[in-house]
Amino acid sequence: MNANASHDSIRAVQWHGDRLHLLDQRRLPAEETWIDCTSSDDVTRAIRDLAVRGAPAIGIAAAWGVVLAAMHGENLSSAMATLRAARPTAVNLMWALDRMNGRVSEGAGAAELEREARAIQDEDLAANRHMGELGAALIEPGSHVLTHCNTGSLATAGYGTALGVIRAGVANGQIEQVYAGETRPWQQGARLTMWELVRDGIPARLIADSAASHLMKDGKIKWVIVGADRIAANGDTANKIGTYQLAIAARHHGVKFMVVAPSTTVDMATATGADIEIELRDATELLSVSGTRTVIEGADAWNPVFDVTPAELIDAIVTERGVILKPDEEQMRILFP
Ligand code: MRU
Repeated sequence: MNANASHDSIRAVQWHGDRLHLLDQRRLPAEETWIDCTSSDDVTRAIRDLAVRGAPAIGIAAAWGVVLAAMHGENLSSAMATLRAARPTAVNLMWALDRMNGRVSEGAGAAELEREARAIQDEDLAANRHMGELGAALIEPGSHVLTHCNTGSLATAGYGTALGVIRAGVANGQIEQVYAGETRPWQQGARLTMWELVRDGIPARLIADSAASHLMKDGKIKWVIVGADRIAANGDTANKIGTYQLAIAARHHGVKFMVVAPSTTVDMATATGADIEIELRDATELLSVSGTRTVIEGADAWNPVFDVTPAELIDAIVTERGVILKPDEEQMRILFP
């Protein structure tokens, strides 16, 4: 068993033979409620409405959505098109559907598609464990780190990307203290990352998103460690809104900035971050806190849920294929020819 397995106890995306069993991430931590998807439309809805979220997890869920479509004799092309349109930014969704579509084009039936979806899920977990070791090796013993959004078991097949590095770093003694930004408006940091860290006994403190620069000022934070939704060919990285301002603050304060993502998040067909579609969600998400309206009726809001961090602000991109230091197009092409 992996030495870090004790720091990892959650599997939020579960295939139960005839349905996809999902831990409803909208309700955590108040309620640990599970939902069952029995059709590809159920899976599309779960992705769109954030019951399942996080780039690798939505790719995995979509792969299971294709299996459900095949089991129920749905039109596979239209099921895949609908799943693909559920969210625009995380390329893992498109990657998983392209892989499933490859098997469909070869004439695969439901049983073979089930094996393919299982492989996608298992490969993600293995990639996360490997990235955990690679990323943790970059961190000096006793470091304090800051993370953003949720990149843990909830967002992946298990263990996590940035949170996988944090799990490995805590287990090996490199990381002494973790800080997690709240991540408005959905509060993935407050609701989900803190839930994972506390359950796993990892020393963690929540900060308001706006406290990040002040936190970095005293020099204790050594790394900002985040995940990604899409990494362009030049290393520009789309991730949860607020990541870009963390990267700017980190550079200003001499704090290193690490992006951790599997190769399924790398999109070499997208030249730069300017070509990445940024999801805009409904203004109401920002006008309320946990469903309670906090802003005057009649007010408007702008709610982009991702931003792009330029490659020059990134010190390391950690993938399961290896680590890219000071990423640019040339460095990216070495690992992703
Ligand atoms: O809107 P979300 O919660 O799906 O956004 C998630 C993120 O931005 C994560 O940082 C990213 O998907 C990486 S998850 C391993």
